[in-house]
This record gives sequence, C-alpha cells and structure tokens, in this order.
Amino acid sequence: MERTLIIFKPDAMNRNLVGRILTRFEDKGLRIAALKLQKSPRSQVEKHYAVHKERPFYGSLVEFMTSSPVILAVLEGPEAIAIVRNLLGATNGRKASPGTIRGDFGLDQQYNLVHASDGPETAREEIELFFKPEEIVSYERATDRWIVSNG
Ligand code: CMP
Repeated sequence: MERTLIIFKPDAMNRNLVGRILTRFEDKGLRIAALKLQKSPRSQVEKHYAVHKERPFYGSLVEFMTSSPVILAVLEGPEAIAIVRNLLGATNGRKASPGTIRGDFGLDQQYNLVHASDGPETAREEIELFFKPEEIVSYERATDRWIVSNG
C-alpha cells in the first residue's frame, strides 16, 4: 500500500474541475486518506517547489500556486504513486495523451491542474509538509475487498 500527495491547483479550483478529477481517482479504486481546502502560505509552496528554485518558471509557479485556495489530498492504494501519475499524463497538457486527466482537461505546462508526488521519498516528504499525522485517516471501505484481491 502506498500513499501519495495530490494538490488540486488553482486552475482546477477556478475551472470547477475538482469533483470530476477526484472522481477519476475514486473510479480507479484509490482511497482518500486525507482531504482539505487551504490557502497555502507562500513559505510552504516555496519549500514544496524548492527543487525548481533555479528554473525560470519558479517565481511564476509560486505566484500561481498561492493565487487561490487549493485542495490537498492524500490518496492510497497499491502502487498509488505511479498509478496517479499515469492517470494525470504528461506535465504539459498539450503533450498529455487523450484519456489522461491533463490530456482531457488541459492545454498548458504550468496550469496542469494537479500536482502528484513523483516517488516514495518525495511522497513521504510532501505528505509531511502539508498534513499533520492526525489528519491522515486509516480505515477500510466496504468496497475495498472488491477492488484489491488477496491473490
Ligand atoms: P508539478 O508536477 O506540480 O511540478 C512542477 C510544476 O512546475 C509543474 O507541475 C508545472 O505546473 C510547472 N512547470 C513545469 N515546467 C514548466 C515550464 N516549463 N513553465 C512553467 N511551468 C512549468
């Protein structure tokens, strides 16, 4: 079982796409372990995107990500990190395949609707940056035994 951090970015928020995108993750069988709305502090966004600090788009990315409230989620399931990234498609919506979230809903590199962790270590760090341990809930859904077999 893996956990991954998802951010519904300001373009998804302003375009009223959160429900439709979250449905894609639910349809796949992933379980919501945490969910919240927040206006992210600039310092938190700067830390989250510190790896891009030297890139020319860093300043505009931080402006964008603090321009409206965002919805943060922790999703869980077997191989959740790779599964979510495959569901999202390529970073640039113009290059993302049809059928993926960005391929179906986006046309831009920066306004790419959703952020998702890219590996187990970043997932751990990002979840810790955005959520307190008590905000993450372990539970079972009635449907879980029909989504993942014992085999
Ligand atoms: P994300 O997966 O959140 O990780 C870094 C973000 O930077 C990325 O999604 C895009 O929103 C943004 N990004 C990546 N490349 C570019 C670029 N060339 N120009 C502007 N924004 C970018």
